[in-house]
Amino acid sequence: MSVQTLSINFINEKNFTKQMSDNQEYTYKYPRASLTVDCVIFGISSNNAINVLLVQRKNPPFQDCWAFCGGFVDMNETTEQSAIRELKEETSLCNINLTQFHCFSSLDRDPRGRTITIAYYAVVDFEKVKDKVRADDDAKQCQWFNINSLPALAFDHEQILKKAIDVISMTRDRITIEKGDITKYDYDAIVNAANCSLLGGGGVDGAIHRAAGKGLYQECLTLNGCQTGQAKITKGYNLPSKYVIHTPGPIYRNGNNNEDELLASCYRNCLLLAEQNNIKTICFPSISTGVYHFPLQKASLIAIKTIKQCLISMPTIEKVTMVCFDDNTLNYYKQALNEQ
Ligand code: APR
Repeated sequence: MSVQTLSINFINEKNFTKQMSDNQEYTYKYPRASLTVDCVIFGISSNNAINVLLVQRKNPPFQDCWAFCGGFVDMNETTEQSAIRELKEETSLCNINLTQFHCFSSLDRDPRGRTITIAYYAVVDFEKVKDKVRADDDAKQCQWFNINSLPALAFDHEQILKKAIDVISMTRDRITIEKGDITKYDYDAIVNAANCSLLGGGGVDGAIHRAAGKGLYQECLTLNGCQTGQAKITKGYNLPSKYVIHTPGPIYRNGNNNEDELLASCYRNCLLLAEQNNIKTICFPSISTGVYHFPLQKASLIAIKTIKQCLISMPTIEKVTMVCFDDNTLNYYKQALNEQ
């Protein structure tokens, strides 16, 4: 379609008035949205902790709230140039490789009026940049936060963060939820929801030891057990998988005994061990939700959130599958994958 036809259709359909001024410039009598950019900067520490760079807003709206660095696009710059400029002005960071990942255009996302934002992300070496940030311009403060202890975010920045994590961790390609028996999976590694003795038990632990045979038990005897939230690796013996990663999940009491963090650290430590052992495909059972009575919905949200975050800094892990033994478990994990 020619440009001319396109514009005529547009004018007819929308009933907009087009005027041509004396100097041949077009002006349109209809409101236009403003354009902003936002920068989501992840700093990955040497111990794989994920930090997020935030600025505290000096001005309304959301004055004093924490937000991603960003601002309005000037008339004489592209959105890329704008993102680089805003990052430098508000945080002093420069020479950062920004990647555009999504456009956010909810009608009510900015109380000042219709504002569409183009979001960028960067994943940087935390140790190299952590001390280089300094607030300026319309940022009151500029600070790194651990991803698990973020303050409330301004505008729709929670949503922007979620999307950035999904895009960077390539959730859609790398995380799957299936119903099945984990002992049948020929992945590089399967995870065992073990107890601290590592010497076997009931549930998935019993099933894995039965399928792997005596060799697994004998290797486990040499490991001196394992603390809750930690992980240890063994060979897979008679299992189709090459390795078993054993992790004792927390026993759920009332939720006031650090159960959430311990469960998250099970997933984190298993993935760290996987990465260190060049494991590319790994599957998990639903840790702690059987004999250890962790509420399934809460456990599924923690599991998916932790796996997504870990994958940001673990590009060598190609596939993570949650293997659910029954439909109820399957449904909770599927829901968590959509929600988190
Ligand atoms: N494949 C996949 N999932 C399984 C399998 C299997 N073959 N068998 C059981 N499950 C599921 C359960 O249905 C549950 O959803 O694994 C989940 C975890 O349940 P448990 O095995 O009871 O694990 P957990 O709650 O972490 O308790 C661990 O149980 O057997 C003992 O030694 C183990 O003391 C440890 C405790």
